Amino acid sequence: MFSKDTYKQRRSVLKKSLGSGLIIFPGNGESSMNYKDNWYAFKQDSTFIYFTGITQIPDLYFVINIDDNDEILFGDNPTAEEMVWTGAKEPLESFAQKSGFSTVKSKSELSKYISSQIKKGQNVHYLPPYRAAQKIELSQLLNIPLGELETRKSVALIRAIVALRELKTPEELIEIEQAVNTTAAMHKFAMQHTRPGMSEMEIAGKLQAIAIAGGGNTSFPIILTKDGQYLHNHASTTILKDGDLVLCDCGAENVMGYAGDMTRTFPAGKRFSPVQKDIYNVVLHAHNTAIAALKPGIKFLDVHLLASKKLVEGLIDLKLMKGNADDAVAAGAHTLFFQCGLGHMMGLDTHDMENLGEEYVGYTPELKKSTAFGLKSLRLGKELKKDFVLTVEPGLYFNPFLIDERRAQGMYTDFVNYDAVEKFKTFGGVRVEEDLVITATGSTILGEPLAKTTEAIENLRNF
Ligand code: GLY
Ligand code: MN
Ligand code: MN
Repeated sequence: MFSKDTYKQRRSVLKKSLGSGLIIFPGNGESSMNYKDNWYAFKQDSTFIYFTGITQIPDLYFVINIDDNDEILFGDNPTAEEMVWTGAKEPLESFAQKSGFSTVKSKSELSKYISSQIKKGQNVHYLPPYRAAQKIELSQLLNIPLGELETRKSVALIRAIVALRELKTPEELIEIEQAVNTTAAMHKFAMQHTRPGMSEMEIAGKLQAIAIAGGGNTSFPIILTKDGQYLHNHASTTILKDGDLVLCDCGAENVMGYAGDMTRTFPAGKRFSPVQKDIYNVVLHAHNTAIAALKPGIKFLDVHLLASKKLVEGLIDLKLMKGNADDAVAAGAHTLFFQCGLGHMMGLDTHDMENLGEEYVGYTPELKKSTAFGLKSLRLGKELKKDFVLTVEPGLYFNPFLIDERRAQGMYTDFVNYDAVEKFKTFGGVRVEEDLVITATGSTILGEPLAKTTEAIENLRNF
């Protein structure tokens, strides 16, 4: 945990920016996998972590009563009978002390407390809940029908939290960098140890072990696949063969909950084939061009479009596309090969604060998210500020289903050489992803440098 001053300061800024009312923050509970007591790994809510530092205790709530200047942590210490199963647990009072809460109350008092505040006419603020259990509990606590929870969320609270969480402090950057270093270690292991004859899962399992040994866990399910053309295709029992291109997108979350998220693409055998190298270098050039453009004040949407143009220019050079690159991007023809966004914010979540709503995190009232295919998956469009942490992850994905459909629809025929593209329907996909912090004049890649050129990757795979 950070010092209690950090958490008190964060709550104090939040109080000032909302001005009045009662803010209710549910922590996460355990989540059952296939029967009640068989749980998925516990994952605390990220906003809860941000304001309390408490990552490992389920079933907590905290409230900030701005009008009474009160902050209360609600929860219960395990009973002796519960500790038969769990062993000793640090008392809640100790956590409360470390995160600067003056009052701890039993969870059994939460409902009465909230109803009495509502009766007094206090305005209640809450974030949109994303888990079924939280939805049901909040609906009961606030006496709001389930179907109205979303519309009655507090947009003022969302905006205030985004304004805080989007700017990473020096102590947060240390934590993020640690998660990124564990992430880079996972990728280095994958690039050094993957061999033809291994299954995707055999490698993914070893990467998960590195994340867990780093003190936390993976920050999202590992994508490790020879079918990188499918954007979030998780590792399977598929056996890798010489000639396959392996796309590995994985990340670690550190003990305090901060995430890393990187991607490397490498050959299953010793070397990239010439055509794999060509496509890889197009993606790498777009990646480097996008990174060079990052600075405060630039819209990430414009960086996304710049990267898209570089991808198209590279594909024109390789005779897979044709015409004018700017016109192709304006027509959306690049989305045949780059169907998603260039990147996203990162912090306590891999896709930071996505549960609060992309319209508040990645966009502004003036800059709305596009609904067009491709751009609708760009999670961040707004102007960058110093101390944003984000990913840059362009890619080229030869999805055979999309190629067939777009061809049959007669789409992008001015820009796509479909006959040449036909041969790429078994190529796979390439993505190169780094995590960066925006500085006063540009950006810095977080973490220890990791092999990124085809030469550096082949050297790492020298077997
Ligand atoms: N790992 C998911 C992503 O890169 O956004
Ligand atoms: Mn990723
Ligand atoms: Mn990412």
